[in-house]
Order: sequence, then C-alpha cells, then structure tokens
Amino acid sequence: MSAMPQMMEAGDGALAAAAALLQSGAIVAVPTETVYGLAADAENGKAVARIFEAKGRPQFNPLICHVDGLAMAQRYGRFNETALKLADAFWPGPLTIVVPLAEDCALHPLVTAGLGTVGLRQPKGVAAQIITALGRPLAAPSANASGKISPTTAQAVAASLGSKVPLILDDGPCAIGLESTIVAVNGEKVTLLRPGGIAVEEIEALLGAPVLHAGADAGVQAPGMMASHYAPDAAMRLDAHDVGADEALLAFGPDRIAGQPLAMDNLSPAGDLVEAAANLFAMLAALDATGAARIAVEPIPEHGLGAAINDRLRRAAAPRGTP
Ligand code: TXA
Ligand code: MG
Repeated sequence: MSAMPQMMEAGDGALAAAAALLQSGAIVAVPTETVYGLAADAENGKAVARIFEAKGRPQFNPLICHVDGLAMAQRYGRFNETALKLADAFWPGPLTIVVPLAEDCALHPLVTAGLGTVGLRQPKGVAAQIITALGRPLAAPSANASGKISPTTAQAVAASLGSKVPLILDDGPCAIGLESTIVAVNGEKVTLLRPGGIAVEEIEALLGAPVLHAGADAGVQAPGMMASHYAPDAAMRLDAHDVGADEALLAFGPDRIAGQPLAMDNLSPAGDLVEAAANLFAMLAALDATGAARIAVEPIPEHGLGAAINDRLRRAAAPRGTP
C-alpha cells in the first residue's frame, strides 16, 4: 500500500509550494509542453540523486537541464553562434541543445553524468515560472518509472510514480505530448541525438545545412555508450575486501576493509545510497587526481541507487577503449 502523492492544480499557490519543495532538495513532478518532468534543483546532488531513486533508473544517464531563458542557460553552457541561433529560433520550446559546459559551471555532476557537455532547454509555461522562482535550473527526465512510457498527464505521473514523488503539479494534458528533439552542437556541426517535438526539417531550414545523425557521420555518440567517457586515469578494482598502500580507497558505509590506502573518500559514512550517488562523480575525480595507480572500491549494495552506482563503477573499470 502506498499513499497517493499530493496533486495540486497549477496556480500561484501551487507554484510557490513547488519552488519551496525544490529549494529544500525535494523532487516535484512538473508539466512541460512536451511531457511531465520529474524535477530537482540541478545544483543539488542529493536532490538529483532522488530523481534516479524515484524512477528506479539502473543507470546515471545525463539529464536535461531546464532553464528560464538564454541568460540562465549561458551560466551553465557555452553557446557558440550556431547554438545561439537555435536557441533564438526554438526557445521556449521542445528543443534540447547539447553544448560544452561553461567555465565554473555550478551544475552538480550527476546532471551531466560527469560529461563535459550539458543538454539545455527552455520549456514553456509553468515549468519556466518555477525555475524563475527558484533562481536555478531544474534537472528533469520524464516523470515515469524507468522503462515506462513518458507521462502526458498528471494522472499518468501518479499512476507511474505513486507515492515516490511528494508533489505533482497538474496543468492538464501536455500540448505536444512527445519529448523534445535533442541536438548536439559542435562548432558549426549540428547532430541529432533524439528525434522529438521539433522536426529536423525545421532545424535544417533555419541552419541552411543538413543535420548530422549520431554515430554514422558525426563522430558524436549518444551518451553512456562509450566506456571511455567514464574512465578515470587510475585502474579500478571493484568489490575490494582489502586495500593496498599503493591504492586509493573509495569507501562506503561505517565499516572499513583491511589495509592502509594512500588516500580515501567515503561515499556515505552512514551507508546512505542517495548520499553516495550525489558524491560519486566528485569523489572518483578527486581520488583519480591523487595520482594513485589504482582505486579500490568497497562493496556497494546492488539495491536502490546501488544498481546505478555499480553500473557507473563497472563502466569506469571496463578495459579502456571499449565501446
Ligand atoms: O521533452 C523532454 O525532453 C523531457 C521534458 C521533461 O523536458 N525530458 C526528457 O528527459 O525526455 P529524459 O531524461 O527522459 O531524456 C534525456 C535525454 C537522454 O536520452 C540523455 O541521454 C540526453 O537527453 N542527454 C542529456 N544530456 C546530454 C548530454 N550532455 N549529451 C548527450 N545527451 C544528453
Ligand atoms: Mg524518458
């Protein structure tokens, strides 16, 4: 038996309630013109981890970062002339633009799954108002359980996520009902990563040039497909039951394995998987930066967010250069 989540019709009071919840690190289901999104403050790692937990997503794939306009987008992503042209023509609207991260970008690394790029989109309506109220972007995938279809009504969100989300804002059925089109911008090259609410032909008409297709001719791959994106310089040794003096240790929980590592970070001394997920990318990077030849990782339970954490660690441990 799970309690029904709170559902509120989108109006001033509901927007303020949503912004307050997001400010406190909670997740909220919000309507956009494409599909309902499961949103969290994109600068708050624990909040972003709760998205993966609620969806039961077994992998940390990068999330779309929703902004209230180009000014906010440029705090997080670097827009060249081509990217500016796309944003100018199609925002607010169902186009997600993948660009390199801005310098001193304050996004939590879970949003980008540790990549050097970020997918940005300015949605229409209620979602944009909440972002303005929060003053920070919202990371939001579609508000459905992992592997299920994207919800286009508040009732569909409730049916899919049930009590896992404290608040669902109801603004009726989504106008488009299909996810955003995702393109990556690389210099003057624009590559389609996912077809969606804006037709490729419209983009090509604007650019006066063909849109490339991922994989085939673009030299760009869908994220999560390349293990090398995830590889630290150090070798990885997972599920370690002891640690050597030449190794750095990525620990988890209150109990330590035997040995004296040359450096250590603990994903969560309390053994909390939400906290561990939020710390994962930064701690891997920090241990890698110690110059240790190898990072030993304590066993991490496979339930809840542990599945996604272990998936990410296995990718980091995969032989280098494998797709
Ligand atoms: O319409 C939409 O796009 C909806 C609403 C809520 O905005 N969101 C959505 O998010 O469909 P999601 O998480 O279901 O899909 C996000 C897609 C993923 O396939 C992810 O791989 C891609 O966006 N993506 C996000 N950031 C990326 C990046 N930096 N590079 C490449 N792909 C990225
Ligand atoms: Mg989805």
